Amino acid sequence: MGAILGLALVAACEPRVELKPGDPELVRAARQIFDTRCANCHGPHGRGDGPAGRGLSPRPRDFGDPAWQATVDDDRLRRVIIGGGAAVGLSAHMQANPDLEGSPVLVGELIRIVRACAQGQDSKGMSEQTGAASPGSVTP
Ligand code: HEC
Repeated sequence: MGAILGLALVAACEPRVELKPGDPELVRAARQIFDTRCANCHGPHGRGDGPAGRGLSPRPRDFGDPAWQATVDDDRLRRVIIGGGAAVGLSAHMQANPDLEGSPVLVGELIRIVRACAQGQDSKGMSEQTGAASPGSVTP
């Protein structure tokens, strides 16, 4: 019995096991990636005001801008994050993250962080903030 339980636990800890969207472990992992790899340029709240981002030209955009959010779909964000700015004709300062290509759910969680920058406005309720523009909707 103990052996079977142990085996199941080992299997659950395997890195290849895909976590589900919203899984706390996944949310934490994505947050950590954002803080260590992205915030340096994009800033902790995605305002484009990270220490390395301020010196760049063009600067990283403000993820809090709902007008911009409405012009990009998740597929594009995915391509930028994995392939870097050059993959979609943006600045090559936006680095590629090829190691994330095999972790679509994790990239999905990073996209949620980018989206959340425009929704909660740093933790205030979304309902009073969203107004006319709905950041979740995408105009083709
Ligand atoms: C070395 C600085 C740097 C780092 C690190 C960086 N970025 Fe960027 N990023 C940029 C710049 C600069 C742009 C804007 C490029 C442009 O407008 O031409 C950008 C653009 C973007 C865009 C917007 C693309 C668009 O459609 O306008 C997204 C989304 C993005 N980055 C996500 C991320 C994520 C997620 C990470 C971490 C995994 C990250 N970036 C790491 C500099 C960086």
